[in-house]
Amino acid sequence: MNKTYNGLCLAGVLAASFVIGTAGAQTTVTDDQGRSEVIYEIGTFHPAPGAQITYDLCTICHSELIIAQQGQTREGWDDILVWMVEEMGMAELLEEEREQVLDYLATYYNPDRPYYQQD
Ligand code: HEC
Repeated sequence: MNKTYNGLCLAGVLAASFVIGTAGAQTTVTDDQGRSEVIYEIGTFHPAPGAQITYDLCTICHSELIIAQQGQTREGWDDILVWMVEEMGMAELLEEEREQVLDYLATYYNPDRPYYQQD
């Protein structure tokens, strides 16, 4: 057997154990555009597609509450992401992840503050 084959097998085992490990705690959320996503831990974030990746990427350093307290346009959130990378040491996000985070924040934590939270 060659190396590639073994690598694929290992990836399969890891993926399977991940699913089993989180079974029970996960929910599927769907937004008004019909997009669905599995979420398992999003703290106090509004449950919707994009919440999980935003939670995972943004709570490495601080609580989601300082995010949920803000009401920003997409441009405003974009500036905050740039600021996190340039001044706060956040790793540059992959373009696809960055779009998901911006879509989520601009939809649910925009200037109308539909899910504003006070701590
Ligand atoms: C590498 C660490 C790190 C990561 C990852 C990170 N931040 Fe931050 N962020 C900070 C630090 C440090 C502060 C300022 C200190 C504090 O308030 O805790 C901060 C503050 C903030 C603030 C508060 C600004 C204010 O006006 O008080 C917001 C909003 C914010 N981050 C958004 C985000 C978002 C959205 C993400 C995910 C895309 C993110 N952060 C990921 C380090 C990080």
